[in-house]
Amino acid sequence: MPSEPLIALALSLLISLVPFLPAAEKSAPGEEPAPAVEEQPSLSEEQLAALAQTPASWFDEPALLDALSKLPHYDETRAQRYLAYRTNGTWTLEQVLRIVNTDNDLPRFTAAVDADLNDGDLILVNKYSRLASDYVPEDLVTVEPAYSNGGMLKSEVNDAFCDLVEAMWAEAGLHLVNASPYRSYSLQSSLYARYTARDGAAAADRYSARPGYSEHQTGLALDVIAPGGTLNGFKNTQQFVWMRDNAHRFGFILRYGDGMEYITGYKFEPWHYRYVGVEAATFIYENGLTFEEYYAYYVKK
Ligand code: DAL
Ligand code: ZN
Repeated sequence: MPSEPLIALALSLLISLVPFLPAAEKSAPGEEPAPAVEEQPSLSEEQLAALAQTPASWFDEPALLDALSKLPHYDETRAQRYLAYRTNGTWTLEQVLRIVNTDNDLPRFTAAVDADLNDGDLILVNKYSRLASDYVPEDLVTVEPAYSNGGMLKSEVNDAFCDLVEAMWAEAGLHLVNASPYRSYSLQSSLYARYTARDGAAAADRYSARPGYSEHQTGLALDVIAPGGTLNGFKNTQQFVWMRDNAHRFGFILRYGDGMEYITGYKFEPWHYRYVGVEAATFIYENGLTFEEYYAYYVKK
């Protein structure tokens, strides 16, 4: 249940959202007075931040759309789709925008389209955007063996990864190992089959991509571990802390963030990094975005 101060805050926000008529603008002598334009008071940054965290269920339908329209990335063509989240769960306004703007309200896999290969390093591969079974990236190279358990990455990603590993050593005295880079469609098929046989499809879908839906098939993603460590143990390492704070400097993003499964489709994976280039990675890091949001707002707009 929301706390009383939160309810009071939401009520004061609702009141402040009521439109008002400003005084007619001054006009020069002899001119027709300018017509009064109906304006709404603009909210302070603090009010907007509080509004974004307000549950959608607190509003009726018109008030919900009015409130959402105050927030960044409101898209009126998706209005009906936002409204479905008023009574469906306990989503905040920010979450409703994130879900619908990234198409996460559509059925996973069946609504998927072919990934756009023209997006280059910014290609989106997720449960709504898939690769063909015969897609193999063009310029795969063997990952620098000193930093790897074997396998391949796209050439520029291997270069960026080498720079990252060397910087981690120089700056923090820590080593990092690439545990799983490029994976072919057929390798992903056997992994997914093994996981579904063990845990069932619903559970496997939360941590393993189906064949064609894995970023590992792009040659732009890799899983990392501390030397001698495990994927599951990575979140408790100093290497993870360094990666969390520095990977963007080398063009990598933490792809499946903690608490973001409702957008990324996967549980938190502290070990999985995706190369998007330094500019995009820095923007994503500084603005706390998922790659799905970055793609919707800055690649496809
Ligand atoms: N574990 C990630 C989601 C993959 O299988 O590609
Ligand atoms: Zn991975």
